[in-house]
Amino acid sequence: MSAQIRIFTFMKTLLMILGLTCVVSMAWGQQRTSQVLDTGWKFHKGAVQGAQEDSFDDSGWNEVRVPHDWAIAGPFIEDGDGNTGKLPWRDEGWYRLGLGTLDVYEGRTVYLIFDGVMAFPRVYLNGELVGKWDYGYNSFYLDITNAIDFEGNNVLAVHANTKDHDSRWYPGGGIYRKVTLMAVDPVHVDVWGTYVTTPIIKPHYADVRVETNVVNSNKEDTELSVVQKVVNQAGGVITSDTTDLAIKSKSSATCESNMTIGNPHRWDIDEPYLYTLTTEVWQGDDLRDTYNTKFGVRTIRFTADNGFYLNGRRVQLKGANLHHDLGPLGAAFNKRAMERQLEIMMDMGVNSVRTSHNIAAPEVLELCDEMGLLVFDEILDKYDGKADITDTTDFNDFTHRNMRNFVRRDRNHPSVFLWSVGNEIRNVQWNLDGGFQKLRTMISYLEMYDQTRPNTLVCDSKEGAINRHFDYYDVHSWNYGRRYELARQLEPNKAVIISESASTLSTRGFYEFPLPKEKTDFTKSLQVSSYDLNAPWWAEVADDDFMWQQEEEYVAGEYIWTGFDYLGEPTPYNNGWSTENGMTDRQASRSSYFGVVDLCGIPKDRFYLYKSYWKPEETTVHILPHWNWEDRVGDTTPVFVYTNGDCAELFLNGESQGKLCKKPKSRNSIERFRLMWNDILYKQGELIAVAYREGEEIGRDTVRTAGAPSKLKLTPDRNTIRTGGDDLAFVLLEALDSDGNLSPLAMDELAITVEGAGELAGAGNGNPQSFDAFQDNDVSLFYGKAMVILRSSDESGELVLKITGSRFEDEAVTIDVEKE
Ligand code: GAL
Repeated sequence: MSAQIRIFTFMKTLLMILGLTCVVSMAWGQQRTSQVLDTGWKFHKGAVQGAQEDSFDDSGWNEVRVPHDWAIAGPFIEDGDGNTGKLPWRDEGWYRLGLGTLDVYEGRTVYLIFDGVMAFPRVYLNGELVGKWDYGYNSFYLDITNAIDFEGNNVLAVHANTKDHDSRWYPGGGIYRKVTLMAVDPVHVDVWGTYVTTPIIKPHYADVRVETNVVNSNKEDTELSVVQKVVNQAGGVITSDTTDLAIKSKSSATCESNMTIGNPHRWDIDEPYLYTLTTEVWQGDDLRDTYNTKFGVRTIRFTADNGFYLNGRRVQLKGANLHHDLGPLGAAFNKRAMERQLEIMMDMGVNSVRTSHNIAAPEVLELCDEMGLLVFDEILDKYDGKADITDTTDFNDFTHRNMRNFVRRDRNHPSVFLWSVGNEIRNVQWNLDGGFQKLRTMISYLEMYDQTRPNTLVCDSKEGAINRHFDYYDVHSWNYGRRYELARQLEPNKAVIISESASTLSTRGFYEFPLPKEKTDFTKSLQVSSYDLNAPWWAEVADDDFMWQQEEEYVAGEYIWTGFDYLGEPTPYNNGWSTENGMTDRQASRSSYFGVVDLCGIPKDRFYLYKSYWKPEETTVHILPHWNWEDRVGDTTPVFVYTNGDCAELFLNGESQGKLCKKPKSRNSIERFRLMWNDILYKQGELIAVAYREGEEIGRDTVRTAGAPSKLKLTPDRNTIRTGGDDLAFVLLEALDSDGNLSPLAMDELAITVEGAGELAGAGNGNPQSFDAFQDNDVSLFYGKAMVILRSSDESGELVLKITGSRFEDEAVTIDVEKE
């Protein structure tokens, strides 16, 4: 066995003993090792004296897995603030992790990389403060080498405090994203140290330019060779380059390499092809470091009059705004949960996401690269009057550090096509309190780290455009209400994005009669009718945005507010509305009504409206509402059909209710995109919609009056998941009648039992008014449906979910948990 392999085997064993996930890239000198610190953490919520000391006794603390959100288990604070989710996130807390002996790292440089801690983290190693950060959504890293005790045991302690964090939605609390311990040779590629650009892209070649920042932590100056290799998806090296680099002791230096790829394979939303750049740092014959960077070759271009071009073809941005929470899993990041969100969005036709309004977990960018989604990458929400940036914050320093980490971390991702320096920052739009100076500061630091993508500021103050803030950035981005018009008139040479569209509101499965006359007609039901006709005063129905885009080719696309429901911001049933309407704070809801799918990922009716327009190549025929209206016999009960067909005929119990066609020229947008039979008199039975395109039938949908619920149906999204504790199965629960029809009114309470190779990760049902804790062993159906989320364990085997309800026979489903 060679010395290198012995070290490798020894380290692997050591890491296995520590129980840490380990990625080791074998190299000929010292190796770069990365361990994800996910298990073994101890957690305590609340203030504790001396918890940073290595001698502190944490034996009474709870053991948790990181990523961890200290508030998501609840309980809900029913008279708390619905705008931030009514969950106990505002607090402080401590995390401790024994790292054991780290003598294997002696002579190396050791970093801790935090993908995100909410909020204001302070990091201690062996009682010593090794670093802190001031923006909970950003990633940061710390060089902890000098604080390591190479003779003894090492204890990591992290304090997080959300008391001074302000938010317009549920932020979560604690170490809610991954933490990585990384050991490298003192001579190494810096964290996020490569910058890959493709300055020239032609069909038959593309130039690849690489800037590599190499750190020399040694006491001696050094001379190095930096070798760059471009590797294709088949694993073949297709081009390479070697550059010499001299670095003084205790400093870093950057070298540049230029290579050419012949016949480059483009990264595109249809075929997201990724290359890997492998960077090797050689000191004479010793390979000191190997570092991989994924990148893509694609062109992006906004035009003044004809929207956005990807790889030379116009692509209308069909975007979704996504907040960072994962419904019943809270803010604790989980890659599979995020992948599922993106899959559901893509199924609807989404080709882009906006990380509203903050830096996303790094895995979100990886997923978007791999899945072929364009990313509108946003750094922060309006901070006016908020605590993260206060009057005493050194704005220049805050912006530089945060912009640096944000852009350096994300700039190699081909999916990122637009940077946003913020959402709806009022003082910037109005140039108050040094607003434009701040805008210039943000843009100049952004451009210091990347100039290959356009940038934007997301605006909402329509008249604020008169101040011409758009002169400082590249693209007009406006939220709602065709507010972009003035800015576009003043500066017609810039493209427009509807950065937030719709904000249409609805509750899955819930319908109210008569239909609202105004979009703001809300009732005291504390739910919003799913006829998709409601929106807050500042916003609109989905169809308006479709119409505006049809009429104005310069609009590059839209980002719906929002793809998923999220915790917090339960407009219109937030605390203020409730008070004005004689309702108590207790009655305010805890999660949003904005989503096109509910908090658990179950599509609302609107999903099919978007799909019918965004995916015309796929057949969509969707009838609403459900047809169980015992007390409406003989009453007018409108029926809507969402279809990609141009016409449809509706039948009630076999009798035609007429054939309707979309009206593409109507000024009433809903007539362009929906088919509406407004005068159907209810009688129970069967509704069938037959959809046509150019006279040919393309498909049909049927809705029947369901009998009493008699059976539960359990449908997992996947039957096999991986071991390791972070893979998930989402199991949809549905109540059916004896003929297999969905019982759309079933609200039964169900008990959850989980056995075998995993555990319950969360459960919910998309009801913004539910105050049942997400991690309890029960869940109620909400309009016939609910969701249970299971998490794998480290052991392979069968994971069994059993559901029990008083009027149903027990049902079970088995998921196979297989070794990675
Ligand atoms: C926007 C804001 C979003 C959300 C939305 C609700 O103005 O940017 O964060 O609050 O309104 O309609």
